[in-house]
Amino acid sequence: MDMSSEGAATGIGPTHRIAVIGSGNVGAAIARGAVRAGREVVLGVRSAAKAEVPAGVAVASPHEAVAGAGIVVLAVPVAALADVVPTLAVEPGTIVVDATNAVGAPVPGGHPTVAHHVAALAPHARVVKAFNTVGAEHLDGTPVTGRPTFLPVAGDDGGRADIVELARQMGFDAVDLGGMDAVVHVEDHARLWIHVAIVRGLGRDWTFTIARP
Ligand SMILES: NC(=O)c1ccc[n+]([C@@H]2O[C@H](COP(=O)([O-])OP(=O)(O)OC[C@H]3O[C@@H](n4cnc5c(N)ncnc54)[C@H](OP(=O)(O)O)[C@@H]3O)[C@@H](O)[C@H]2O)c1
Repeated sequence: MDMSSEGAATGIGPTHRIAVIGSGNVGAAIARGAVRAGREVVLGVRSAAKAEVPAGVAVASPHEAVAGAGIVVLAVPVAALADVVPTLAVEPGTIVVDATNAVGAPVPGGHPTVAHHVAALAPHARVVKAFNTVGAEHLDGTPVTGRPTFLPVAGDDGGRADIVELARQMGFDAVDLGGMDAVVHVEDHARLWIHVAIVRGLGRDWTFTIARP
């Protein structure tokens, strides 16, 4: 299908359809939020029997889920990326969102960030880092208080705007941090959340927000 002409005719572009790879805490929450935001969402799972599927979300194998999706969200352990990403057959130009965190282990391949690792695995994709800085409990975008959750986004110049738009539709206060050189700040921000929540014992039930006058 020519997705670009479909977009012109219907107002629904290729990024309307989102494949979320991984149906754990993170994948399920992002899928739930994206569906609520009006997107078409397919969960890519290796075992349909195990997957907890939010209402309104379709299920397929990871490879099938990616077909026709303009946005692919990676919600699997970092250690699984090298196995999972090459099997997806991501079309050139597809936006691939890396929602993972390297916790307690170095970034594979000696890359500066996990998103650079993903970019090496999917060299024709537009890799964007996002949705890794918020505990899974609040990753569907529902604000914890009246103030929306801060969501930093960085990565490919041709992909960030679509992810900022998606995140805002989900309810986040999404902020564009810049290109691939800025991804390190997004990954550092997740490390800060993990340190405060887990290491320092604040617990998981909170998010960062930006206070504006
Ligand atoms: N938990 C959080 O609060 C949080 C927040 C932000 C970012 N993150 C990051 O998000 C990622 C996912 O975390 P999570 O908490 O959602 O983990 P999780 O609940 O353990 O879910 C991981 C998912 O990845 C799938 N998976 C694992 N290996 C796979 C493979 N080789 N092929 C296909 N699918 C595979 C699992 O499938 P099966 O069910 O079949 O095993 C499962 O659906 C991690 O990188 C984590 O660091 C976590």
